[in-house]
Amino acid sequence: MRKKIVAGNWKMNMELSEGVALATGINKYFKSEPLKEKEAILCTPFIHLGIVSTLLNAPGVTAGAQNCSEHKSGAYTGEVSAAMIRSTGASTVIIGHSERRSYYHEDDMLLAAKTAEALRNNLRVIFCCGEVLSEREDNNHFAVVKRQLEKGIFVLPEEEFRKCIIAYEPVWAIGTGVTATPAQAQEMHHFIRELVAGKYGKNVADDTTILYGGSCKASNAAELFANPDVDGGLIGGASLSREEFCNIVNAL
Ligand code: PGA
Repeated sequence: MRKKIVAGNWKMNMELSEGVALATGINKYFKSEPLKEKEAILCTPFIHLGIVSTLLNAPGVTAGAQNCSEHKSGAYTGEVSAAMIRSTGASTVIIGHSERRSYYHEDDMLLAAKTAEALRNNLRVIFCCGEVLSEREDNNHFAVVKRQLEKGIFVLPEEEFRKCIIAYEPVWAIGTGVTATPAQAQEMHHFIRELVAGKYGKNVADDTTILYGGSCKASNAAELFANPDVDGGLIGGASLSREEFCNIVNAL
């Protein structure tokens, strides 16, 4: 059975005290309203990760990072390794977010290396894929997503692939207020699941969690999550509010 997950991607927001207050509030809420057969992951900036991982104790609520180095350790000024992330108690890392791909020029090969390093350190990977607007307008969106998955995670052996969660995030929907329609999300998620089935077989495909991301909020989450191939969401802006985030989790 695949897991239902809502992951918050705080991006570069929240000073330490604000982030701790947000995580504390979310944790408190899910202690009083325990999660059943679903999971909430708070992907915080590195600065917050140690303290947030330690304070989260509501069942099913865990912490994650937004990026990691492809290197094990050493002279890489400013970088954070997968082992360091794991040492905070965090269990998950986002790899291949479109902002990393475009602003920091992270290409398919680098993302495959980061994914491998994260998995070597027992982190689960939320691997992001998605097309930009012009690619969709040119009807290239399926080809783009296929390439990103083939180069990034379909290089993994099955048991490693099973530790990956896929997030489909159409870039034109991220932070824009323009959400993919439920039909557009389902169409791409179904396509992704078929790709996984083609590579690893139907059982693995059935067990793969595929999240939708891009202007997902409490008011539209339920209709997106109602699709058979949408197993939850990766939430940016709306994850910065305790109420919004908890309502999105409740919509799942
Ligand atoms: P958004 O971001 O929810 O603010 O659109 C989603 C993401 O980038 O993960």
